[in-house]
Amino acid sequence: MMKIIGGPASQLLATRVASELDCELALVEYKRFPDGETYVRVLDEIDDVVIIQSMISDEDLIYLLQLIDACSDASVKVVIPYFGYARQGKRFQPGEAISARVMAKTIEADEVLTVNIHDPSVLDYFKVKARDLDAAPLIGRYMQSLDLRKPIFIGPDEFAGSLARSVASKLGADYDVLEKKRLSGEEVKIKAKHLDVANRDVILIDDMISTGGTMAEAIELLRRQKSNDTYIACIHPILAKNAVVKLFKAGVKEIIATDTVEGGVSIISVAPLIARALD
Ligand code: R5P
Repeated sequence: MMKIIGGPASQLLATRVASELDCELALVEYKRFPDGETYVRVLDEIDDVVIIQSMISDEDLIYLLQLIDACSDASVKVVIPYFGYARQGKRFQPGEAISARVMAKTIEADEVLTVNIHDPSVLDYFKVKARDLDAAPLIGRYMQSLDLRKPIFIGPDEFAGSLARSVASKLGADYDVLEKKRLSGEEVKIKAKHLDVANRDVILIDDMISTGGTMAEAIELLRRQKSNDTYIACIHPILAKNAVVKLFKAGVKEIIATDTVEGGVSIISVAPLIARALD
């Protein structure tokens, strides 16, 4: 019988997937030795298992590798709802490591599932079959439940534009994109572009929010163009450091995200999506 293991980064999501599939959760002991090394022990008998663990920090990857090894006598599927390092999926400058490739190559399993991985070409780096799931329809469905006034979905850059289009189409709403230039890891410049946002509710949408720099710049620009309420939606709410305060200070009304990264804004669960893919 298939069991679900929730890694330390995806405990809630794992329980939600188990409940969707009506299958058992396996209990795992996690601990840390005095020198900082992590330890994993699967306490239940398993022969067919799904490990669910997002990779937000380096430690999350270590736990995932330990879990995979602890289950090496079983048939193992791995779900990595947020696959970190996917923004380093190419060599942008000579001498750089293709970090996403390094991470992907370490995963041994029968199959790997990710959710809205930043760069889908990273899937080719896995040595095993890897599939990406799309949570955009779940965001669209949630947005339908809000009482939005003349909504327009906006991606802060071309890449996020396809996400904006996909969510907007669910509501039959408009969408557009901004032009973004990244100056550093924390700083971006959004080019002013005249959009028809006056007196309209704007939903800025991106695959992930890390420092919040991109979204904060975009919110300020749209507010100058007299937008009405501004919402932010994303799949992966990393929200590093002071991102949340930065975004509310910039004037966002609500941050809406999924539980690929578990936190206070993770109000949409990707559990039904994952459960469907595993069924
Ligand atoms: C990059 O292309 C991603 O889609 C996001 O736009 C980016 O990671 C957001 O980063 P930050 O929140 O630090 O501006």
